[in-house]
Amino acid sequence: MRVAIASDHAGFEQKQILRDYMGGNGIEVIDLGPDTDDRVDYPDYAEMVARAIAHGDAERGVLVCGTGIGMAIAANKIDGIRAANVISPEFAALAREHNDANIVSVSGRFVDAEENARIIDAFLSTEFAGGRHAGRVDKIAALERAKER
Ligand code: RB5
Repeated sequence: MRVAIASDHAGFEQKQILRDYMGGNGIEVIDLGPDTDDRVDYPDYAEMVARAIAHGDAERGVLVCGTGIGMAIAANKIDGIRAANVISPEFAALAREHNDANIVSVSGRFVDAEENARIIDAFLSTEFAGGRHAGRVDKIAALERAKER
């Protein structure tokens, strides 16, 4: 599986750790930056990961900022993206199972790297359950098509 990852300055340290963690587990990771912990604006990096997924360059995405909130909000502006801000492995699994989330957005300031690694494990290993959830995810896509109306 190919996974795109990015952060802002608040998530930079954990982005490096989580990138190496996934790489060490045989996952193909595309690091979309930043390359330093200089101050940056999280929407710019959330957009890069979201567009990589929307264009099919990666199957899943991982975003890391201070809370994970801002990056999830920004990523969800891109059509086809279902980004979930997650602070537990259980929610990561549910975001996949029920919502077919394609990006997990985690907190570099309030959740430690070990827990975020468990969150990523759950996110990458859980399949979408489909069934009754599929129609609901279809309705999310319909909201994108109904934009501006
Ligand atoms: C940066 O200070 C912080 O606002 C950002 O990392 C993130 O938490 C936004 O949601």
